Amino acid sequence: MKRKPFQLLFAAVLLTALLSVAAVHPPDDRGTMRNLLYTDTSERPALDVPYVPTPHEVVEAMLGIAEVGERDVLYDLGCGDGRIVVSAAQKFGIRGIGVDLDPERIKESNENARNAKVTGRVQFFQRDLFTIDLSGASVVTLYLLPSVNLKLRPKLFRELRPGTRVVSHDFDMGNWQPDRKVTMENHTIYFWVVPANVSGVWRGDFPGGKGKGKYTLRIHQQFQKISGTLAVGEAKVPLSNMELKGNSLRFTIAQGIPGMSAPVGFDGFVEGNSIQGRMESGDKKRKWTAVRDGSTMVPLDIPDGQMQTALRRNDGIKAGGGE
Ligand SMILES: C[S@@+](CC[C@H](N)C(=O)[O-])C[C@H]1O[C@@H](n2cnc3c(N)ncnc32)[C@H](O)[C@@H]1O
Repeated sequence: MKRKPFQLLFAAVLLTALLSVAAVHPPDDRGTMRNLLYTDTSERPALDVPYVPTPHEVVEAMLGIAEVGERDVLYDLGCGDGRIVVSAAQKFGIRGIGVDLDPERIKESNENARNAKVTGRVQFFQRDLFTIDLSGASVVTLYLLPSVNLKLRPKLFRELRPGTRVVSHDFDMGNWQPDRKVTMENHTIYFWVVPANVSGVWRGDFPGGKGKGKYTLRIHQQFQKISGTLAVGEAKVPLSNMELKGNSLRFTIAQGIPGMSAPVGFDGFVEGNSIQGRMESGDKKRKWTAVRDGSTMVPLDIPDGQMQTALRRNDGIKAGGGE
């Protein structure tokens, strides 16, 4: 992969830090990579990522891509001097939280918040980003490292609500493909919407089917990418135009169902093991609901390298398991 100059600079800063510490410590005193970032680990915390601030124009672009609005709560994990949180609070009136392990950065963040007159809306904590509860966030911003993003990914899936937006400066999330990727000069911005887990076998009964409207919906999911089938009686049709954005699911079937002719469009809101929504065919609109057998759900965050095994299991469901 071709590295961009800014990424090379970031790597160079990291390498210089590591080499200068390696010169002071004997080889068997080095410990892990984390401990190499500072010569005096008793006074300074061991950082997972060195401090490199995001340029202000990139901060603005990140907030724009995430479509930050006044009702958002933004968390910046590894907040540096607090510029992302402060800027979002100043421009959009949002509430924000920044965490950084380095006390110097927290001091700078608080000072920047005071100067920008947003202290009532933002809070900064000297904490390890891996230990804070993320469930209150509607937007999460990151400028970490690829390996740190990957280490963080399971926590994002565990704690963030579906629909939460995640924006990362310069580094991706492995096999979780971004919903958007924007390049500006030497910077890349990655954007994701946390998807609900819709994988597995769902069952419902179309109204008006007089007992013959029982259906089974099978959904195969790889992060936000989904495919599936709908079976009514003997007939099984593929789901087309499938889309999942947070909790909102959409698809179309090219076949009629009891009381509705083809094509039929479905819209639904997913909450745990239940979907409620509307189906539409021409000018006919009806409600539909489905309930999932929770045991058929496949975890969303499958580490790179283990995806094939998980997909085979999910394919088993598609092929008729869970009946
Ligand atoms: C590349 S800087 C990004 C700063 C800021 N988010 C920005 O975009 O301007 C990474 C920050 O993460 C902080 N950091 C590194 N490891 C951390 C950890 N485990 N927990 C919290 N903060 C950490 C560093 O102190 C540094 O300020």
